[in-house]
Amino acid sequence: MATVTKTLSPLARLCLLLALLIPSACGRGNKFWTNYWTPGDTVDNVGYHPDQPIEFPHNLHAGTRQIPCQYCHSSARRSATAGIPSLNTCMGCHQYVRTDKDAIKYLKSKWEAKEPVVWTKVHDMPDFVRFSHRPHVQKGIDCAECHGDVKEMVTVKQAKSMQMGWCVECHQANQAPINCSTCHY
Ligand code: HEC
Ligand code: HEC
Ligand code: HEC
Ligand code: HEC
Ligand code: HEC
Repeated sequence: MATVTKTLSPLARLCLLLALLIPSACGRGNKFWTNYWTPGDTVDNVGYHPDQPIEFPHNLHAGTRQIPCQYCHSSARRSATAGIPSLNTCMGCHQYVRTDKDAIKYLKSKWEAKEPVVWTKVHDMPDFVRFSHRPHVQKGIDCAECHGDVKEMVTVKQAKSMQMGWCVECHQANQAPINCSTCHY
């Protein structure tokens, strides 16, 4: 199965899986998809916690200092991606704050060299999934609902298994659309 699905395009995979899912749909009411394991998952990485160039302490910024999430992830309410802040955002404070610390010296050296800090992605939806922050954030769904209590984390780790069933169950509970094209290209 795994090798077969790898050689198919996402659309072909969708058709194949659909063909497999539909017969079993009858016995499971309208929730046939929610328990389905889907192959090739990078979405199931609960606890995934990649090494980062420096440890960015969310707990100190969003927790202790109460800097709002959207001060740094400012595109969340108006676009698909929440965005990762550029060094300019950091240096607005760190030109002056904690300049004696190694991590801040690292930031300053990157800034002076005009090089970005390359953070490793924590969450990564497959390309055939259409996800956008905007409708969720505008509806008032808290970041923590999907990302866990980031205020308590140092570097971010994945909090929820972001399986299709997770998306669909919340959509059903909130009368959000659940037709396939809502979330698939
Ligand atoms: C001062 C800036 C700043 C603030 C405030 C901040 N973040 Fe972040 N956030 C970052 C940086 C830098 C990264 C990249 C490093 C990392 O992944 O740990 C990041 C990464 C993330 C990621 C992981 C992104 C990925 O790669 O998938 C999530 C989720 C996240 N932040 C959520 C939040 C939430 C929720 C809040 C508020 C509770 C918040 N952030 C507040 C700067 C910030
Ligand atoms: C409905 C669930 C949900 C909510 C609410 C949500 N996120 Fe996300 N977030 C995701 C998913 C899913 C991804 C992975 C997207 C991808 O890989 O394409 C993600 C990715 C991210 C990333 C990685 C960079 C990017 O933009 O893809 C950051 C940073 C982030 N979220 C921050 C936030 C912040 C801050 C909030 C609150 C303002 C928030 N998220 C609210 C589900 C959510
Ligand atoms: C609004 C001001 C502000 C912004 C913006 C900001 N920081 Fe900070 N940062 C602080 C403060 C204040 C502290 C000290 C927190 C404490 O010790 O309570 C801190 C502490 C740190 C530390 C820990 C230093 C140590 O070893 O004690 C790191 C690392 C850091 N910030 C990285 C970043 C990065 C990376 C960014 C950009 C994504 C950023 N900061 C953006 C204010 C800011
Ligand atoms: C915590 C609940 C929750 C989770 C989890 C969730 N969603 Fe949503 N989503 C909503 C709600 C509520 C709306 C409707 C917002 C509105 O009415 O504008 C929505 C809307 C959307 C929309 C816009 C639909 C449209 O056409 O208006 C897309 C696309 C979407 N979600 C994709 C996803 C994907 C993909 C996932 C999983 C990775 C996901 N959602 C997880 C609650 C959720
Ligand atoms: C609310 C969002 C949402 C809706 C609606 C949705 N999906 Fe998904 N689907 C996802 C997400 C997110 C993934 C990737 C995560 C995973 O693999 O579980 C996914 C994965 C899949 C996969 C797995 C592909 C692979 O190779 O792993 C198939 C097939 C699929 N969806 C088919 C469908 C079909 C058919 C429908 C309509 C009955 C549908 N989806 C409706 C969000 C959604």
